[in-house]
Amino acid sequence: MQGTPDARAPLLELRDVSKSFGPVFAVRNVDLRIHAGDIVALVGDNGAGKSTLIKLISGVHAPDGGEIYVRGRAVQHWNTATARRSGIETVYQDKALAEQQTVMRNLFMGREVTGPLGLIRLRRERVEAEALMRRIGFTSQLISPDSIVSTLSGGEREGVAIARAMFFKAELIILDEPTQALSLTQAQVVLNFVRRAKSEGSAVIFITHNVYHAYEVADRIAILDRGQIVGEFRREDIDAVQLVQFMQTVARQGAPTAPRQV
Ligand SMILES: Nc1ncnc2c1ncn2[C@@H]1O[C@H](COP(=O)(O)OP(=O)(O)OP(=O)(O)O)[C@@H](O)[C@H]1O
Ligand SMILES: [Mg+2]
Repeated sequence: MQGTPDARAPLLELRDVSKSFGPVFAVRNVDLRIHAGDIVALVGDNGAGKSTLIKLISGVHAPDGGEIYVRGRAVQHWNTATARRSGIETVYQDKALAEQQTVMRNLFMGREVTGPLGLIRLRRERVEAEALMRRIGFTSQLISPDSIVSTLSGGEREGVAIARAMFFKAELIILDEPTQALSLTQAQVVLNFVRRAKSEGSAVIFITHNVYHAYEVADRIAILDRGQIVGEFRREDIDAVQLVQFMQTVARQGAPTAPRQV
């Protein structure tokens, strides 16, 4: 990317982005805008293209067509490293936490706080880790930077992954199914982490199968069906029951006309 960023432009914009795998049209002509501090839920059935869409945003896959803009400028040579440098951090479905390591190691892995001699400054890391855990909303007295990740609940593990993204000053955090396979209480723990990330100024794209989770935390909800965004609603424009009905209609007969409400 070149030039200076445009402060009024969306943080991220996809224009007519497509990606196929052989005969499978995984993502089709998607337009999407994310502004600073937005929480956008991406919902849709298995195979709808949700993970593929976020892999296009995070630079894992290159689009076959369309453009990606960051802060108003078309990206070039988009890959995972340039996406990260642009402030986009992704927590994948099969998230990469080292379960047998401490929370602290996981927070800083690959980007350890180093001193003048290149030594890892454990004390500074611990102080940073504690501050970060408080900011993201870890409240349990039983969890410290030295806790082993495998002893944490599913929701707390997700929190470590989100805290890690925040440590890297992510302006956009992408979460692929962070509440999948979690109990009701644990899902709430994760939704609270998402709210905290927003209050710290990050935008969040949040993939879920659960319309109620989407509805609870998102400013906007985008519905993906067979690779296409078939509906996009502001939270205040639709209630959860209407959203479920909309998705059922889409599943039965494809997208109704004039779906985009945003
Ligand atoms: N690397 C790949 N190679 C070939 N096909 C792929 C690849 N990744 C995804 N697909 C196909 O693209 C389509 C969309 O898959 P994707 O994983 O994006 O869906 P999803 O909405 O994330 O589904 P789920 O809710 O099950 O995670 C599917 O038909 C899938 O089989
Ligand atoms: Mg997926």
